[in-house]
Amino acid sequence: MNDSFETLVQQADLHSPAPETEPARQAFDLARARELVRARGLAAGRPLTARVETFGCQMNARDSEKIIGILRSAGFTDASSEDADFLVYNTCTVRDNADQRVFGRLGRAGHLKRNRPGMKIAVCGCMVQEQTNVEKIRKSYRFVDLIFGTHNLYRFPEYLCACLESEGMVIEIWDRADRIVEALPVARKYPFKSGVNISFGCNNFCSYCIVPYVRGRERSRAPRDILHECAQLAADGVVEIMLLGQNVNSYGRDLDTPCSFAELLEQVCRVEGLRRIRFMTPHPKDLSDDLIRVIAENEIIARHVHLPLQSGSDRILRRMNRRYTKEQYISLAEKIRARIPDVSITTDIIVGFPGETDADIDDTIDVVRRVGFDNAFTFIYSKRAGTPAAKMEDQVPEAEKNRLFNRVLTAVQETAHTRAGRLTGRVMEALAEEVNLKDSSLITCRLSNNMLVHVPGDPSMIGKMLPVRLDECRGFYFFGSVILDS
Ligand code: SAH
Ligand code: SF4
Ligand code: F3S
Repeated sequence: MNDSFETLVQQADLHSPAPETEPARQAFDLARARELVRARGLAAGRPLTARVETFGCQMNARDSEKIIGILRSAGFTDASSEDADFLVYNTCTVRDNADQRVFGRLGRAGHLKRNRPGMKIAVCGCMVQEQTNVEKIRKSYRFVDLIFGTHNLYRFPEYLCACLESEGMVIEIWDRADRIVEALPVARKYPFKSGVNISFGCNNFCSYCIVPYVRGRERSRAPRDILHECAQLAADGVVEIMLLGQNVNSYGRDLDTPCSFAELLEQVCRVEGLRRIRFMTPHPKDLSDDLIRVIAENEIIARHVHLPLQSGSDRILRRMNRRYTKEQYISLAEKIRARIPDVSITTDIIVGFPGETDADIDDTIDVVRRVGFDNAFTFIYSKRAGTPAAKMEDQVPEAEKNRLFNRVLTAVQETAHTRAGRLTGRVMEALAEEVNLKDSSLITCRLSNNMLVHVPGDPSMIGKMLPVRLDECRGFYFFGSVILDS
């Protein structure tokens, strides 16, 4: 797909008006951006640099790869820090601390800009889908040059030109997506693994969650586009892909020819060259027996299901609008464990939801123990303006939230430790991902069940699937060794 887009860029006639169709319009603007970046680089006497800072989930990480792909294609080289000619903050707003981190970093970027004439700063992503945040940036961070939202990311080449050509703040936020535009360039962070979007947005409206408001209604990509992208990635050396959607289980319901997630997954398994397939995130309310069967029958699908629980209390689950009960969740988890040997089940839990008491936390801890989560992300409830939960009257005081949080955390750590320990001594396939950040003689590898194992080795191993013995369990991860062929 990149090849045909590149042809469009090269054939763009910059003396004619911009085309009105997509992606031709973006190809035209990318060609224009190339001219602008080249001219600026010549004037500066050095190549221009760009940097994208990502906050948030895998969706945002994938969006950042698209932004970097466009920046590189426009002629920017990668900067090693935020001190760059073009700096992009791709933001998250799922919890308040995500917003605060972005504002803190933006303040520092303003200082960098004072010492770097011509520097451009862009803010995009979920946070700027909220008008109040845009207003705050307009008033208090006036050095920002470009703000664009989640629905119009495909128009980045156009905004890039506008921003390079003007001095004022360019702001373009849409409140909904008009279409899914394929074909723009993508720069992958890892050569050997990649995310693949299967759907955008969410229709679930969990009462605490801002995502449906900032990402819009659910839109599925066509199966042929997904399969084509997977095949291209595999041909390009990718061995592991992660299919991405806010709720992968409702994939395909909006397509002209409906296709379930289980059907899609089965087709992705047949893409030649792939060694491992992951997906994020399945909502427990619509995880089908068919999906469990497809995972069980296809070893290439990772033995890992991330199944967000959020709460174990029926009362709180109802107020969260999660549409399952404690017992339904537990029987689903038991069914998954029974049909998929060696599967790891991980989860997300929110603590301190309005009205939550010790009795509700007892229920959550009961689920944690009965399911025996292999790992869990535990979050303190954060009030998001505009969501139904923000209007609930019985908000829990901060100190109380922290106390409840610690109760859950202790339970989660116990079960995770016990679950991991049982694998000690086993030999499993692991994908070598990167040099260990703390000890460069170790290579960090990922097991099919998503656990990390650190093995002695060198960077030549990166990107390879290796047989690894799990020698020593350290709670959430292992030290191990590669088993060499004898
Ligand atoms: N679509 C996915 C992920 C959504 S965001 C899903 O349904 O699981 C990732 C996690 O952030 C959620 O699972 C939830 O645990 C957490 N989260 C979302 N909104 C939150 C809020 N207002 N406060 C605290 N945690 C929140
Ligand atoms: Fe948010 Fe619920 Fe949608 Fe997940 S499923 S993104 S938690 S509304
Ligand atoms: Fe955050 Fe947006 Fe993802 S709010 S969690 S980056 S969808």
